[in-house]
Amino acid sequence: MESSRLMVLSDIHGNLPVLKQVLKDAEKYKPAYILVTGDICGGPNQDESIRMLQDYKAHYINGNWEQNIFKYLDQPTEDPRNQLHQYDYLKWCSQNVSTKSLKQLRNRPYQSLFSLPGKDPIRIAHGAPDNPFTLIYPETNLTEILEKIEETVFVCGHTHSPWIVNRNEKLAINPGSLFNTITHKSEATYGLLEWDGKQWQAEIKKVPFDFSQVVQAFESSGLLKYGGPLAKAVLLSIQSGLNISQTFVDYAVSMAKVSSPNAEFVPNAIWEEAEKSFDWKKYYN
Ligand SMILES: [Fe+2]
Repeated sequence: MESSRLMVLSDIHGNLPVLKQVLKDAEKYKPAYILVTGDICGGPNQDESIRMLQDYKAHYINGNWEQNIFKYLDQPTEDPRNQLHQYDYLKWCSQNVSTKSLKQLRNRPYQSLFSLPGKDPIRIAHGAPDNPFTLIYPETNLTEILEKIEETVFVCGHTHSPWIVNRNEKLAINPGSLFNTITHKSEATYGLLEWDGKQWQAEIKKVPFDFSQVVQAFESSGLLKYGGPLAKAVLLSIQSGLNISQTFVDYAVSMAKVSSPNAEFVPNAIWEEAEKSFDWKKYYN
């Protein structure tokens, strides 16, 4: 008999060594299908991660990172972002997805329905079903989002923070991330959904991983070298469970706003200055 379990993954961000480890960890649960709520891209081994998920016949959708990459690649050559170091991380990610993968990704949706015969259908989205950039939090906008969804089960991602909520006879789950899980130091999280005969039951699983393998992936792929200080900040985020990449970006933007309060972009000289003056030591273990 086919297992009635589903494995739920989100925000892998090309973190291949951790993806391998998580898939291995889930073998014992024999999931019948793997659902992936987007952001497979945005890190060191994007193509390999996509291929691996395809090998597992995963049901995957796009997230905001796939959209970021499409937008970056589609912008005109004269766009100022092409010259800005602020976008070096995105530039590297955009230029390190194969044409084949890119073509496949461009055909994927940002939300979808997954259903199995005799079981409640599941709505999957990266953020909100109508916007992969919407951050969903149980304390704020989840109720409103659930009201707009017909299905009784909703799976999302994007915040890198795992949770399970039962609300108004609906089940919602964010499996967290295989990259920088916020509040979880060098630990990946994924979800399991199990059909109990009447409804889906959810669980979050934690998988501690070897951080040195992630560093190795950042180095050997070239992302650490070409992604600039953001790559360094992302690595520190993965190690610490703190959102250091956002802290660094906010810091650089605040520096740019000193001389130009409405600055849309961080000029290269300020981005470099921010890398030099940011308190990196504060976050090293
Ligand atoms: Fe995301």
